[in-house]
Amino acid sequence: MTISREANRVIIFDTTLRDGEQSPGASMNLEEKLRIAATLEEMGVDVIEAGFPIASNGDFESVREIGRVVKNSTVAGLARAARMDIDRAAEALQYAERKRIHTFISTSPLHMKYKLQMEPSAVLQAVTDSVTHARNLVEDVEWSAEDGSRTEIDFLCRCVEAAIKAGATTINIPDTVGYAVPEEYGALFRTLIERVPNSDKAIFSVHCHNDLGLAVANSLSGVANGARQIECTINGLGERAGNAALEEIVMALRTRSDVMPYANGIRTEHITRASRLVSTVTGFAVQPNKAIVGANAFAHESGIHQDGMLKNAQTYEIMTPESVGLNRSTLVMGKHSGRAAFRAKLKELGYEDMGDNAINDAFRRFKDLADRKKDVFDEDIVALVDDEVGRQHDRVKFLALQVVAGSRGPQHAVLEIEVDGKALPPVVSFGNGPVDAVLNAIRSAFPHEARLQLYQVHAVTAGTDAQAEVTVRLEENGKTVNGQGADADTLVATARAYIHALNKLLVKRQKTAPAAMSA
Ligand code: KIV
Ligand code: ZN
Repeated sequence: MTISREANRVIIFDTTLRDGEQSPGASMNLEEKLRIAATLEEMGVDVIEAGFPIASNGDFESVREIGRVVKNSTVAGLARAARMDIDRAAEALQYAERKRIHTFISTSPLHMKYKLQMEPSAVLQAVTDSVTHARNLVEDVEWSAEDGSRTEIDFLCRCVEAAIKAGATTINIPDTVGYAVPEEYGALFRTLIERVPNSDKAIFSVHCHNDLGLAVANSLSGVANGARQIECTINGLGERAGNAALEEIVMALRTRSDVMPYANGIRTEHITRASRLVSTVTGFAVQPNKAIVGANAFAHESGIHQDGMLKNAQTYEIMTPESVGLNRSTLVMGKHSGRAAFRAKLKELGYEDMGDNAINDAFRRFKDLADRKKDVFDEDIVALVDDEVGRQHDRVKFLALQVVAGSRGPQHAVLEIEVDGKALPPVVSFGNGPVDAVLNAIRSAFPHEARLQLYQVHAVTAGTDAQAEVTVRLEENGKTVNGQGADADTLVATARAYIHALNKLLVKRQKTAPAAMSA
């Protein structure tokens, strides 16, 4: 895909894997990042910002591997205005068919004085030097003015002009701290485009944080005033209050094309799947009333609304559930469904390239679930499959669990696990409640020091026989990982989720990384 430069075409730049991953606790492993990148590519995202290669070996590896497999989207790597950062980004992008170095430096008085401790003249020089160096390594260079929305306009104009002169093809003006309001942010783009003499040689980009809940409105205002790239994340994931949400921007553009006539390449039917994947992998649940992807976004509860919907869906629905990928299923699954139907269902749900082992494991669990649960919904299958993908090489595996709960107590758990292919003898542990007993049993069977940071349960579907999906976040030596588990039994899902997180920590332990860094 070549990025279209038609006047009204907006480039969608997704930074879920970089700015999104900077949210505390949202760290993802390589396999998860590859799955998200593949989903973004399929969705038609123009640019995938895959990481900040100098920040850690893990980030470097993710950018390199995403660059290796992604063919249709441009892959971007972030770099500060330093040769070392830029060289590392170029190295990480070595295999990418379409690559972009995204280099940035702060330009606001506050950031220059306190964060950088640099004079404006030195910052201006760094803009030229960093972009020139990046341009010597790749064709496609984006330059960002960090804290751009709080930068003095004359100085910003000079920096932008210098960046374009040095070869930047995209100019990004972030509202780093989410301080701007729509009219003001839009006017900033109008002024820059009017005043900077070479502004016609670059595409201007919006990058908004959501501290005041204005990230999407600010982004759209920037576009109305000449910006033609939008930086955003799935589910609005991102530091503090997050970034502008991709799904909200894209559906606003689609639904209100009458007043915002800007085209983009996003296949919106992939939105729901992308949202779910990001939420599962990060453990950041989507609030039920979240626009576009919340569980209630297309639910009509009140009698008056339901009556209107039955007469004509447009009475209360401004976009269809199908347009964001909430399809009515064509294949209904139950206990009589065979392996071929299961495979077809996986395909329908977008799991195109699962290995045979993972399919077999998921199929076994599906049959087990179908025996216990009357209706097996698509959500159940997605939860089961997410619980299997990428777990074939786990060192610690769940085998069985028996729990005594209730008011009489003592609550205790009998747990069986396998470590490195060898089944351990059952372990019995007591606890202050069944969850505590289960986690104590895991700690006793496989001793470790990690601390539990998050324990979250949500029902995959309605009904008392619904599967529970549990997310567990563990922390060890400053590194955090998220684990997920799904089962009709909440305690089994708990054990699976905890063991999943533990396996991720074991992999992390093997990798040595320099001190973490953030943009
Ligand atoms: O918010 C911000 O300023 C950023 C830049 C590094 C682009 O994320
Ligand atoms: Zn940001």
